[in-house]
Amino acid sequence: KKVVLAYSGGLDTSVILKWLQTTYRCEVVTFTADLGQGEELGPARDKALLLGIKPENIYIDDLRETFVKDFVFPMFRANALYEGMYLLGTSIARPLISQRQIEIAEKVGADAVAHGATGKGNDQVRFELSYYALKPDIKIIAPWREWELTSRTALIAFAEEHQIPIAKDKRGESPFSVDANLLHSSSEGKILEEPWDAPDEMVWQRTISPMDAKDEVTEITIEFERGDAVGINGERLSPATLLTKLNALGKENGIGRLDLVENRFVGMKSRGCYETPGGTILYVAHRAMESITLDREAAHLKDSLMPRYAEIIYNGFWFAPERRMLQAMIDESQKSVTGTVRLKLYKGNTIVTGRQSPHSLYSMKHVTFEDDQGAYDQFDAQGFIKLNALRLRLGGMAGRKGGAL
Ligand code: ARG
Ligand code: SIN
Repeated sequence: KKVVLAYSGGLDTSVILKWLQTTYRCEVVTFTADLGQGEELGPARDKALLLGIKPENIYIDDLRETFVKDFVFPMFRANALYEGMYLLGTSIARPLISQRQIEIAEKVGADAVAHGATGKGNDQVRFELSYYALKPDIKIIAPWREWELTSRTALIAFAEEHQIPIAKDKRGESPFSVDANLLHSSSEGKILEEPWDAPDEMVWQRTISPMDAKDEVTEITIEFERGDAVGINGERLSPATLLTKLNALGKENGIGRLDLVENRFVGMKSRGCYETPGGTILYVAHRAMESITLDREAAHLKDSLMPRYAEIIYNGFWFAPERRMLQAMIDESQKSVTGTVRLKLYKGNTIVTGRQSPHSLYSMKHVTFEDDQGAYDQFDAQGFIKLNALRLRLGGMAGRKGGAL
C-alpha cells in the first residue's frame, strides 16, 4: 500500500507522515508544492529524508506559474468574490494541489492520498472533491478526522516519541493558523476566534499598515490581453512574475487587507484575516478594463452569475461541470478585454485614473454633452421612454399609481 501525502514540512504534516507509516503501515510518498507561500522547500526535503522517506519518493514542485496562469487568472476573469468580499486565495489553490497529488499517485501507483486539513473546514472538502473528480476510485486518508491526537500536547508527545524535530517556536501553541500562497495569506483560529476582538497588528504578514504606508502616490499601468494581465508599466511579465510584482506594490502601499466573517460550506461561520495585495489591485484593474470593453448586457449577465461561480470555487467544485460551463462563458466574454488601465496606489487604496483599449465600446461622439453632429437623435428617447412607461401608466389608470400592487 502506497499513499501520497500533501506535505508542507511543518510539524503537523510531519506527524501525519509518521502516523501513516506507523498506523497504516504504508509506504509514504511526499508531495510539497511551491505555490509562492514564501517558504524554502529545501528543509521539507531534508525532513522527509530524516523521517525515512526514500529520495525517489520525495516530490517537490514549483507550481507558481501554473497556479497563476491556469487557476488564479481564469478566476479573476470572473471578478470572483465570495460573499461580496473574499478573493478566494485559499480556495483556488486546493484544486491544483489535489491535481498534482493525483498525478503523482498515478505515476507511482499509489492507491491512496492524504492531506492535513481538519474535519471542520472547507479545505478537506476542496481536496477530496478534487481527488474524487480526478480519480474516482482513490482512497482518502484524513488523519485529523481519524486520530486521537486531538490536543497540542498529544501531538508534541507523538512527535517526541518518534524523533520528529520540532522547531523551538512550534513547541508552544501558534496564536493562529496560516495558509499562504502567491495570491494571498490567510490567518484564522485561536486568538482570531472572537469576532469582536480587533486583529493584532502581527496578524498581518504581507502588507504594511495603510497608516504606515508612504505619503506619496505610486502610479502604475497594467496591460491586459483577453482578460488576463500581461504587463506592468509596459513591461511584459509572466503570470507569476506579474502577481509577485503587484504583491510588492500592494504591500508597500498597505493594499488588500480584509477582516471577514464568512459562511463555511460545512455550516458554521468563521472569522478570517486575509491579505491579497496584488489580487486586490488586479481585481480593480480588471473591472476597469471590462468597463470599456464589455457590452452592457454581457457584463450584467456575467456579474449576475459571479456569486454562483465564486460559491462553486469556495465550496470546492473546481473540477465540476457547472464550473466548466461558467468558465467557458466567462472566457468567451473576455475576447475583447484588451488594453491598458492606469491606477494610483495610495495608503490602502487602489484608484483607477484611466483606461484605454483598441476594442473600446466607449463612444465620446455619442456621450458628449457638446454638439454630437447628429450621432445620437435625442428625439428617439421620447418614444423609448414612452413605451417603457406604458405598463406603468396602465397600472396607474387601473388605480395602482406609483407601482402599487
Ligand atoms: N477561510 C478561508 C477559506 O476557506 C481560508 C482557509 C484557510 N485554511 C487554512 N488551512 N488555514 O478559503
Ligand atoms: C482547516 O480546517 O484545515 C482550515 C480551515 C478550513 O479549511 O476552512
